[in-house]
Amino acid sequence: MKILGIESSCDETAAAIVEDGQKVLSSVVNSQIKIHAQYGGVVPEVAARSHIEAINPVINQALTEANLSWDEIDAIAVTNGPGLSGSLLIGTLAARTLAILKNKPFYPVDHILSHFYGNFLSNDQIKFPVLSLTVSGGHSQLVLFDDPYTSQALGSTTDDAVGEAFDKVAKVIGLGYPGGPEIEKAAKLGQIKFKFTKPKTKNQFDFSFSGLKTAVLRQAQAQIGQNHTFPSFKIADKLTKQDQLDLAASFQKTAIDILTNKTKLAYDEYQPKTVALAGGVSANKALRVSFEQNFDKVIMPDFQFCTDNAAMVAAHAYFWSKNHQPADPYDSDIKLN
Ligand code: KG4
Ligand code: ZN
Repeated sequence: MKILGIESSCDETAAAIVEDGQKVLSSVVNSQIKIHAQYGGVVPEVAARSHIEAINPVINQALTEANLSWDEIDAIAVTNGPGLSGSLLIGTLAARTLAILKNKPFYPVDHILSHFYGNFLSNDQIKFPVLSLTVSGGHSQLVLFDDPYTSQALGSTTDDAVGEAFDKVAKVIGLGYPGGPEIEKAAKLGQIKFKFTKPKTKNQFDFSFSGLKTAVLRQAQAQIGQNHTFPSFKIADKLTKQDQLDLAASFQKTAIDILTNKTKLAYDEYQPKTVALAGGVSANKALRVSFEQNFDKVIMPDFQFCTDNAAMVAAHAYFWSKNHQPADPYDSDIKLN
């Protein structure tokens, strides 16, 4: 079964064709990072406009690269949320229109769960149950999959997602956008000099990163000898290079320890056969190493399938289609949460 997947939930316009949920025939990603970098973050209106320009060429390229005609496509899948409304509308409208015009079964799927299915593109014979940690710009989530079709969320984001914390800390200490890869680079050169407290959450499997983000801000202010009334956007100009690197290293270490410790708690309680990483933050090598050191059987997507892509959407729809009817493309909405 060959599924065309479409993804446009944030700042990547992507289309991919995946066979039987595992074999990637093409995967095209048009990233808007350069456009948004000048503003220091994603500007929703600009993102939506860029999706409009990119969506048709990206879909056509996915078909060309897979060397397939529309007749050979068995179904169309799309991310219907969560994400930015203007961005989601472009991808879902394209997918709905194509499903109607080309008369194909239509499968809208959840973006966060799709990240987990990116693992099927890079790993053979995954042993279930799988405990998955999905960490992205919008979510930090622990999910238990009994099999490829059934999952339950054990815990989720209560304030800032971990990727958001990477991005915001990077901004405060004067690193570029997106912050995740910049913090990772800086952390390699810095010392883990500062200790930050780990948050407590009511549900032990939930995540909270806003306190850590503020603690880094306060430490940065302390380094330049200013009190908390000093505007945060000016801190970066006054930090020494060494302080910037040390703050990045200390923040990253604390964030990774929080993610690893929470996953360990869930691992002890549910005893899964496999632990999986997924989502943009799973591209972080230090996080990948921490998981490899702490868990016996760990899977993670190849780097290209960590950040937003459409192959994971097509893979997700393949498994979803095994026990769900296609949706009606005339009557399908986006979901924002
Ligand atoms: O999954 P994703 O592409 O988009 C969302 O669904 O949000 O994740 C994007 C997030 C951003 O916050 C970005 O800073 C983070 O993933 N990220 C990283 C790395 N690469 C991307 N965070 C830490 N280390 C990285 N190497
Ligand atoms: Zn994502």
